[in-house]
Amino acid sequence: MGRNGLHVAVVGATGAVGQQMIQTLENRNFPVETLTLLSSERSAGKKVVFKGQEIEVQVATPESFAGVDIALFSAGGAVSKALAPEAVKRGAIVVDNTSAFRMDENVPLVVPEVNESDLTWHNGIIANPNCSTIQMVVALEPIRQAFGLKKVIVSTYQAVSGAGAQAIEELKTQAKAILAGESFTPEILPVKSDRKHYQIAFNAIPQIDKFQANGFTFEEMKMINETKKIMHMPELEVAATCVRIPVITGHSESVYIEVEKEGISVEEMKQLLKEAPSVVLQDDLAEQLYPMPADCVGKNDVFVGRVRKDLDRDNGFHLWIVSDNLLKGAAWNSVQIAESLLKLGLVNL
Ligand SMILES: NC(=O)c1ccc[n+]([C@@H]2O[C@H](COP(=O)([O-])OP(=O)(O)OC[C@H]3O[C@@H](n4cnc5c(N)ncnc54)[C@H](OP(=O)(O)O)[C@@H]3O)[C@@H](O)[C@H]2O)c1
Repeated sequence: MGRNGLHVAVVGATGAVGQQMIQTLENRNFPVETLTLLSSERSAGKKVVFKGQEIEVQVATPESFAGVDIALFSAGGAVSKALAPEAVKRGAIVVDNTSAFRMDENVPLVVPEVNESDLTWHNGIIANPNCSTIQMVVALEPIRQAFGLKKVIVSTYQAVSGAGAQAIEELKTQAKAILAGESFTPEILPVKSDRKHYQIAFNAIPQIDKFQANGFTFEEMKMINETKKIMHMPELEVAATCVRIPVITGHSESVYIEVEKEGISVEEMKQLLKEAPSVVLQDDLAEQLYPMPADCVGKNDVFVGRVRKDLDRDNGFHLWIVSDNLLKGAAWNSVQIAESLLKLGLVNL
């Protein structure tokens, strides 16, 4: 009512995801009247440029959220658990990028192309799914709608930026050290707080997040559980193997699916994906055209290629899905949720 825009807060403003959130708010020309940038004490006082204006980063406290309409959180689960309820108490709607609330049944877990209408029952907190889950469900939802979906088996090739700014630095310094014949000590990957750390440069690490009692990692369980929740399909069969590779940005996924409908051709599958929202089909074998992370950086879409019919199962298909994990996997999906809130009248100017 008469305002030029919303009061938006970014928590974790100096991080890999937070930086992209600020950039995405600017690129989308999201109606921001006031932008509050929050971090820990480490980065407080730093200046960040938004729409040509310098904004000073402040320490995140409960009082930081007074007057905030939408708070985009990406400062780790502990910060979200402590501060998201404080933000809600002060009237903000929280879009949370961490895994703190994703499986809470009172919290919608939203990818706008798939389940935008779940936003209507939010109770102050909306969860942004795991990056590797988001890009997969964007490609799978149109397939589910057209042909039904029974089973998903995914293997991921995930970029180091998914583990934050320190992991990017670790890959770069290790690569330099190895090429210079110097020694180095891995400290961040696969999981900073786990007991052992391994070389990521010129390597592949089949562990993302900590191991669970069932032998899967937490990242793999996130893909399994979040896919079922977002697609409203508790009965969907999903298995995942998540691997970290020495790419800075852009997650890739080899996905095997089984659909309900028999007799679907590769051409029908490709045509469907070509017309799907936020999906770009890059699949031309004669031209050696297929998605690769280096080509996806900085883009909001989900790129799909290598579409093949399984050789043994008529209802089985293989896909290769790539997207910028910091954008559709995190910052863009969060800002897209904020845009949906405006569109649905769940937040008002
Ligand atoms: N990277 C991805 O692709 C991705 C995707 C989806 C979700 N996420 C989630 O988003 C979160 C952040 O990821 P990231 O990759 O951006 O990590 P990051 O690069 O390590 O950045 C962490 C950010 O959180 C801030 N922070 C840390 N402790 C804090 C505290 N006690 N109070 C306030 N702010 C604090 C940091 O501020 P300082 O500069 O002061 O340290 C920094 O701004 C993680 O929970 C991650 O799981 C990441």
